[in-house]
Parts: sequence; C-alpha cells; structure tokens
Amino acid sequence: MTHLSLLKPTGHLTLGNHLGALRPMREQAVDDVCFYGVADLHALTVAHDPARLRILVREMTTLLLAVGLEPATLFVQSHVPAHSELAYLLECTAHTGELNRMIQFKEKGRSNPATRASLYTYPVLMAADILLYRAARVPVGDDQRQHVELTRDLALRFNREYGEVFTVPEIVTPAAGARVMDLQYPTTKMGKSHENGAGIVYLLDPPDVVRRKVARAVTDSDTGPDAVRRDRATKPGVTNLVDILEACGGSAEGITSYGALKAAVTDAVVDELAPVQRRYAELAADPGRVDSVFAAGAARCREVTAPVLEAARIAIGLG
Ligand code: TYM
Repeated sequence: MTHLSLLKPTGHLTLGNHLGALRPMREQAVDDVCFYGVADLHALTVAHDPARLRILVREMTTLLLAVGLEPATLFVQSHVPAHSELAYLLECTAHTGELNRMIQFKEKGRSNPATRASLYTYPVLMAADILLYRAARVPVGDDQRQHVELTRDLALRFNREYGEVFTVPEIVTPAAGARVMDLQYPTTKMGKSHENGAGIVYLLDPPDVVRRKVARAVTDSDTGPDAVRRDRATKPGVTNLVDILEACGGSAEGITSYGALKAAVTDAVVDELAPVQRRYAELAADPGRVDSVFAAGAARCREVTAPVLEAARIAIGLG
C-alpha cells in the first residue's frame, strides 16, 4: 500500500513531529511503498527568510535520514514540479467555501490583509502532494485531519466529474503521540514555531536541555495520591507528560509524584532521541550522502508521478 507524508521546514523538528509522524512513518517504511518528504513549498506560505529556509531544509533532509526513513523514497517537494502543476488543476476543483472553513487559515491568516494567497490555497497543494502518488494512507498527527478530509473530498469530486484518476486516501494517526502538547501551554499543540521555545522539545535538543524543559513543564497543584493520571480537561499538563512517557515506551504506573514523573519522562525522551542525534551527527558530516539520497528520490518521484499528472490533465480537458 502506498503511504505519503511530508513535513514543513518552518522551524526545527520537534518531539511532536517525531511521535505524531516520523515514528509511525518509519514503521510503515519497512514493508510498504512510501514517499516521504520536505514540504519546502508549504514553508513559503508564511513570512520566511530564504537563507534560513535553506538551512532548515538541509537540517530536515539530514534528520529524515537520521530517523531511519531511508527504506522510503525521500524527496524535497519543489524538486518534483508536478506537485505545483497538479495543485493548480485541483484549485480548479476546490471551492472557496471549503477553503474558508480550513482552521489553519481561519486562525493564522483570514483577518490579515497581508496574508499570502498561498496560505489560502495551502490545503490544495497538500492534496496535490497526496493524490499525485495515489497514496492510500497518510500517516500524520491529529492536527492534519481536516486537510486529509479535504483531500478526500477533492479526489472524490475530481473522479466523479472527470473520471477515475485518484485514489481516495485515508488518514493514519498513531495510538499514542498523535497530539503532543506544549510543555508550557499544555492546551496548545507543541508546534515548531511557537514564539517561546521553553515548552518545545526539539529532536536535536541535548539531554540537559530536555531535562530542563521537562523539569519546568506546567503541571498543577494536586498533591493527592492519584495526582499522576490522565484527565485532559482538568489536568492537561500531567496528561501530556503521561502521554509522552507512554508514547516513548515508558509507563506512569506506580509513579505518584510529579518529580518522579518528570524524571521518567526525561529518561524516556532522552533514550528516544539519542540514536537519532548520533546518526544526525554522522550524516551532518557527510552532506554528499544526504544529497545523493534526495536526488535519487526526486528522480523516482518525477517518474512515478508523471503518468498520474498526465491522466489528470487529460481527464480535465487539457492536452
Ligand atoms: P507539519 O510540518 O506541521 O508537521 C509534520 C507532521 O508532524 C505532525 N505533528 C504533530 N504530531 C503530534 N503532536 C504534535 N504536536 C505535532 N505537531 C506536528 C503533523 O501532524 C505532521 O504529520 N501540512 C503538513 C505538511 C504536509 C503534508 C503534506 C503532510 C504538506 N503536504 C502531505 C502529509 C501529506 C504540516 O504542516 O505538517
């Protein structure tokens, strides 16, 4: 079964990206046909600095290899021009009403007249990413649900109006780690670009930084014997720590104090990140190897997507 997923290089990768997406992506990559990549075009939808973007793309390509995604075909979105071409055709099937309803646009852009037009059409480009590969499964965190739903709607509409070209994809979210929250603001998701990084664990944070961030994580003043438990409504900070611990293979069973919980979370996260960081250091010293993997990946992507783009062009009345 074909799987596809991309990550947007708008900041450093986080523990949320790792648990919500990268780890499930790696599990699939062993037995399935997988296309994974860096959504650099999506990074242009918000204010950006070209030089920083280049650095973040380099860091992300290296990290995707360091995480162990290599059995998959790895690529950078802009290296496969068919993504932009199909996005335009899909814009001609998407409705403005649908795009107006997208939460990301509502929250990040609608009220600001200087919002980039590409932020508005962002979900259509994402649909193109997925449909171009006829992907059946999209392994992502919970925050991408609405985007995958739109992708399904666009695929169904295109197939109905112009002929069966696309596979209608399904979202796949992990049982644990689909929504990792910020350690300082545990009712908002841990995101790459939160203003203040104190509540965000980055994949490349060294152990002492992880320890400090977890130690400062917001909990609550509950001191009862069962204070360490999940209750998303009244104990969002503690719930998040328990979730992270379990997603990293630990267990909160028998832990009664927040100090002990934080120590367990720190150890579990440090163990989870250590092999990735080791491999990152090796690969960072060998950028030629990273470049050659991504060059081969883009070549393969151009090959597999060409017939799908052509089928879409013909169906819609071009060519
Ligand atoms: P992005 O770059 O924001 O996030 C990359 C992946 O990480 C997941 N994720 C999380 N999971 C759990 N907890 C969190 N706190 C957390 N934060 C992020 C995201 O769900 C995602 O799986 N629009 C996408 C990029 C994209 C894409 C695609 C994804 C572009 N084209 C095609 C799938 C298929 C995005 O902004 O992800």
